[in-house]
Amino acid sequence: MSNKMWGGRFSERPDEIMEEINVSIDVDRHLYAQDIAASKAHAAMLAANGIITASDAKNIGKGLDTILSEIGKGGFEFKRALEDIHMNVESRLSELIGPAAGRLHTARSRNDQVATDFRLYVRDIVDETDAALAAFQQALVERALEHAGTVMPGFTHLQTAQPVTFGHHLLAYVEMAARDRGRFQDARKRLNESPLGAAALAGTSFPIDRHATAKALAFDRPMANSLDAVSDRDFVLETLSAASICAVHMSRFAEEIVIWTSPLVGMIRLSDKFTTGSSIMPQKRNPDAAELVRAKTGRVIGALNGLLIVMKGLPLAYQKDMQEDKQGAMEGFAALSLAIRAMTGMVRDLVPDEARMKAAAGEGYATATDLADWLVRTLKMPFREAHHVTGRIVAKAAEGGVALHELPLKEMQAIEPKITKDVLGVLSVESSVKSRTSFGGTAPKNVASQAKSWVKRLEKERKLG
Ligand code: ARG
Repeated sequence: MSNKMWGGRFSERPDEIMEEINVSIDVDRHLYAQDIAASKAHAAMLAANGIITASDAKNIGKGLDTILSEIGKGGFEFKRALEDIHMNVESRLSELIGPAAGRLHTARSRNDQVATDFRLYVRDIVDETDAALAAFQQALVERALEHAGTVMPGFTHLQTAQPVTFGHHLLAYVEMAARDRGRFQDARKRLNESPLGAAALAGTSFPIDRHATAKALAFDRPMANSLDAVSDRDFVLETLSAASICAVHMSRFAEEIVIWTSPLVGMIRLSDKFTTGSSIMPQKRNPDAAELVRAKTGRVIGALNGLLIVMKGLPLAYQKDMQEDKQGAMEGFAALSLAIRAMTGMVRDLVPDEARMKAAAGEGYATATDLADWLVRTLKMPFREAHHVTGRIVAKAAEGGVALHELPLKEMQAIEPKITKDVLGVLSVESSVKSRTSFGGTAPKNVASQAKSWVKRLEKERKLG
């Protein structure tokens, strides 16, 4: 038997290989809820405009509700011979309600159907990602408040640079997540237009109301050009771009956790909940979750690259190539979701070794800039000269194997006679961070007030819901 959805002019069954390469149900079955919602909106609109009868529309709606619950309960048999979700649903509908099911496809095509379903799906992903990122920010902000004054080394080139606070470091990721959320929201604005009713590519001769279906599906408006509506996947690309940038942020933080938990560094500890052991080395505590977040970023970026390559050079309008838009994207979004949730879990779980952090903050002459700044401020030395004098003092301390604050004043004065004992006040890591009060700086009081303002902002957001 030929395909009952499109087989009118066919007399033979497709070859097995044809069926295997063509079938998409294993992937697009995940669009079932969106597919059914769009069909219900379409049927109601057809009836409202006298294209089908009210009683057919009612039966179609009831049948679709039955299918939704069958699929939800796992009691639906997806048939590969029916290719995709659209035909699986329609075929079941005709079993349930008979010939009226055949009227549902009036004035639409699988081309506008799939574009509509996938837009709805990606819109849901955007909303779920936003909620996950808000929870990630909340976890960070709570820990930042707790550690507004906890001193740790700040790095450039992964070399100890200047002391910062742990809270400040965590808040850096809150800012990144805020921009990530903004990028997802931007993508959402542009994707929230309805392709439904564009039909195969040219629109339809039936008196449909695309504004009504757009509204029923909570789209802002119908897409203005039918060719564009069925053939672009820029909404997936844009969301995957936002996802890729977000995943890159997650991977950087994950890498820091890997470094910080290494016994070589030992700045934080993860509990058994976020650590795994080695099957041969009994002492090992491996940060697998963080390593996997680092790796899952590859999947997200891979999904973006994959789809860019699928879309490149495709002429208008719908081409079957576009069926390959879903699998990678769905996997990429799932990978990002897991990465965000794992990072949130680790942020809540991690325990910093404050003594080790503080000691490390003072290693490597991390307060040398504070000494140079003191020379500028107190002795009115030009910064370049202060930099040079400080360099000589650091060399002297290194020669004696002592920290800056341990170097006898006399030794400093041998290099710069105008230095007084007041300088000792700026050489500790605590006084260093305390002095960084410039806007956006690491001073504990800045960090505490930033964290508090984030707490309020997130709380307000939750209330607005
Ligand atoms: N399974 C298809 C896809 O995901 C649905 C659209 C098929 N359209 C068509 N004319 N064969 O792209």
